Amino acid sequence: MRVKPVLLSMIMLLMQGNGELFDFHAISSRQDFHEGESMCQNLGYDGLAIINTPETFAYALTITVALRANGLGLHIGLRNNSETKLVTWDDGTFPASDAPWMPNSDESDYTSKQYSVLSHDGYQRAIHNKEKYALCGNHKNLPTEAHGRTIQGQQPTGVSSSLSVTKVLSYLECVLLCGQDHRCRVAEFNFDLLTCMMLGPGSYGYKANSRCQVFVRNGYSS
Ligand SMILES: *[C@@H]1O[C@H](CO)[C@@H](O)[C@H](O)[C@H]1NC(C)=O
Repeated sequence: MRVKPVLLSMIMLLMQGNGELFDFHAISSRQDFHEGESMCQNLGYDGLAIINTPETFAYALTITVALRANGLGLHIGLRNNSETKLVTWDDGTFPASDAPWMPNSDESDYTSKQYSVLSHDGYQRAIHNKEKYALCGNHKNLPTEAHGRTIQGQQPTGVSSSLSVTKVLSYLECVLLCGQDHRCRVAEFNFDLLTCMMLGPGSYGYKANSRCQVFVRNGYSS
């Protein structure tokens, strides 16, 4: 039997080890946001790291444990864009509604604070331009890993809207699609319709449906 190339490359992708697909680099000197960004670019990175998925966030936390233990955060590629006045990651994506913001409310206030850090205690927070470490990364839309679990014979309930519904050939393809969309938190594969429905952040219940298989992506706190 011939295996379709697209399926083969998907399987190879899923065989990669944890964190292998992410390329972040921490800079352990202290400089302001723009200097940190320039240093990243001089090292060959696109700029400051974009950590807009649960998987990249978990990876960023892991590789910065020692630096953050010094009590100082690292600049990341999330800012109040001076032209659009919108808070976006540097690839244009918006921060997720379930992202781990500093619990103290004014730490996510971008009206006065324009820049952001992955702070010493593992939250993202808005800051003025201060001297911090920097976390570098690439901004291209690379395929990413999805970490999560499978629920057999169930379908999500409490769904008010979906991100997308796509025709797919397999559950595997549905999981891969979920990993490629930073907003995806749950993906439902329907065996009869051959559809993959992706859901964004939210709280969902589950009910029996023997024709469905669900991928529940690990969230920011899993
Ligand atoms: C971004 O900053 C401007 C001031 O420069 C402010 O008016 C705007 O509300 C900020 N945007 C957000 C989303 O906080």
